[in-house]
Amino acid sequence: MSSDEFVVDKLVVIGLGLIGGSLAAALKNARACREVVGIARRRETCRQALAMGVVDRAFTSLDEIAAELDGGDLVFIAVPTLAVEGVFAQIRDRVSQRVTITDGASVKGNIQAAAVKVFGHMPPQLVLGHPIAGSEKSGITATNPTLYENHRVILTPTPELDGGHLQRVRAVWERVGAEVLELSVAEHDEVLAATSHLPHLIAYSLVDTLANDAENENIFRYAAGGFRDFTRIASSDPLMWHDIMRANRDSILKALDLFSDNLAGLRSAIETDDSEALMGVFTRAKAARDHFTRMLAKQAYSNSMHKQSIAFRIQAGGSVCGSIRVPGDKSISHRAVMLGSVAEGITQIDGFLEGEDALATLQVFRDMGVVIEGPDRARVKVHGVGLHGLRRPPGPLYLGNSGTAMRLLAGLLAGQDFDVELSGDESLSQRPMNRVADPLRQMAAQIDTGAGGVPPLKISGGRKLRGIDYTMPMASAQVKSCLLLAGLYAEGMTRVTEPAPTRDHTERMLSGFGYEVTREGSVAALRGGGKLTAIDIDVPADISSAAFFMVAAAIAPGSDLTLTHVGINPTRIGVINILRAMGADLSLANERSVGGEPVADIRVRHRPLRGIRIPQDQVPLAIDEFPVLFVAAACAEGETVLTGAEELRVKESDRIQAMADGLQTLGIRTEPTADGIVIQGGSLGSGCVDSLGDHRIAMAFAVAGLRAAGEIRILNCANVATSFPGFADTAQRVGISLEIYDT
Ligand code: S3P
Repeated sequence: MSSDEFVVDKLVVIGLGLIGGSLAAALKNARACREVVGIARRRETCRQALAMGVVDRAFTSLDEIAAELDGGDLVFIAVPTLAVEGVFAQIRDRVSQRVTITDGASVKGNIQAAAVKVFGHMPPQLVLGHPIAGSEKSGITATNPTLYENHRVILTPTPELDGGHLQRVRAVWERVGAEVLELSVAEHDEVLAATSHLPHLIAYSLVDTLANDAENENIFRYAAGGFRDFTRIASSDPLMWHDIMRANRDSILKALDLFSDNLAGLRSAIETDDSEALMGVFTRAKAARDHFTRMLAKQAYSNSMHKQSIAFRIQAGGSVCGSIRVPGDKSISHRAVMLGSVAEGITQIDGFLEGEDALATLQVFRDMGVVIEGPDRARVKVHGVGLHGLRRPPGPLYLGNSGTAMRLLAGLLAGQDFDVELSGDESLSQRPMNRVADPLRQMAAQIDTGAGGVPPLKISGGRKLRGIDYTMPMASAQVKSCLLLAGLYAEGMTRVTEPAPTRDHTERMLSGFGYEVTREGSVAALRGGGKLTAIDIDVPADISSAAFFMVAAAIAPGSDLTLTHVGINPTRIGVINILRAMGADLSLANERSVGGEPVADIRVRHRPLRGIRIPQDQVPLAIDEFPVLFVAAACAEGETVLTGAEELRVKESDRIQAMADGLQTLGIRTEPTADGIVIQGGSLGSGCVDSLGDHRIAMAFAVAGLRAAGEIRILNCANVATSFPGFADTAQRVGISLEIYDT
């Protein structure tokens, strides 16, 4: 549509306040409407609207334009909620079904009821709508032609509605820059009761309470920012809000009761000096509010639109030098929050990974009633509730991109006395969950999965679990950990046999929390019914994040980089062993143990690499590092062969295919196989690769830029924040010329 093509010919706006005036002004500004006729009760309003150029003609009564009402093509009713019925009565016999009618009232159920009352049925041309754009400003003088730009408008189509009329109203809102969403009438009224109507009620109530308090006559004089921020909306139009409260009575009462309960809880916490209860409410609320702020800034992990749009551009060449500490270990961070939550006492975690995956775990425990302070500069304090103290969450638990969180939680939650549902993002929703659901069912858990064994997982509570002897078909620390965590709640022994050693953080940490775990050969075992006692945990830097920079230093001439405080648990050091076998110059210093986990500083200097046949026993020990190891292989002399790594196909993406495709694009010869890949070392060219939203694929190709002939662009990089927040900054700091751009 060209900029001056009309979306409506003649618009009649009934009610020239902020909402009606702004739509008229915006349509005129956009040259999207030939003529606007305005109706306002007061002559002065008509005069102002004309003077401001908001309308072409204005009248104080609909009677004055009765004859031409049917000649317009859109009537927008923007009067207070309870006045809409009267307008319906006035226009009923004056508009044919050709004319679209829409409204801007904040409550939809009562408008629908009013329409049925007046018209005898829902008129097929009535499009119920709500531009959520009101503010404490009101009246024609508050008109703002840009009010709806980047604003959300909700339409609540009813079954009787004719599609053509809906399209017309949609087009009008979109033309003035709004984003149009659709909800049912009932959903709209419930959501708005909680998010808009209740806050207005509380703001009015607070100001009224303070204003009526005779002893507090000076209160407004000393009121500072908090009061101002909280009560701004108490300056809104009283008549409008009076109408809304009456029109949306049931939903508002429901929201108000929930709020009153919460407030009563806080009152009693203050009265009884219950510091934990206060911290619980405040920390949960802060986390929720911070999440909301990030959503508004389009940085929240639930904002999938934004996720699509972040890309990396890497300028070729360079070397990496200096000394860095990468963020905390993801596997250990997850487990620290989980075990801390079901321990007795307060667990203090330092070095916690503030990445989206671990934050998702933290949030779900808050949702289950655990008080968690932080994270504040990587420190988190978990007020454990004991093995039987978790509470049923208010809704499904959302785990974002994190397979570890979902699988470990499945075990921990299988033995609770409440039902839960675990869900995740698009990638997690495609990952196999039967590997945990099947053995958990053998333990007598009740778990339903989506078709084909994928999330969501629905776990029924109140089951009595029994220990089992389970031999895993694949070497998976997630499956092992899941079953050990379920075993805490099971009767008797739970024994898990692994076909090859996998990361043992769960076993180590359980021992740290005072829970006995035995290890005999390939069998890890524990007996249910014990308890965990809180400890302090120092999370080492994540070797899986360090790996990107280890490979960077190994492949880029002139590099000399030290990675400090890296976890070197023997079940995680496959990347060190493989790089050394390829000829890398890699040395460990300052080896020590922190809280049951070995750590060291790792220094890597450039030295040419050679291709190798990767020993199969190293595969589980380097399972997350293969994307970047493939980049090392591409830069090595000769052929690198990987086998026995079919698990790579079911990670956050099919990592064998994703890397093969990307390397191929950059001019490297690869041959993917069912359980591995063959890579011929060569020269990396330039081009655009897709990370498929997999954090490790994105970071691996960023490293490849160091040896590329030209620029590399990497698409879909937002998920890097799941495991390595600040990756781009760290990469730039050590010498990779990486730039973030929006696609
Ligand atoms: C993890 C185990 C591994 C790994 C994942 C983290 C863990 O998965 O890939 O990133 O923390 O237990 P599998 O156990 O499925 O191989």
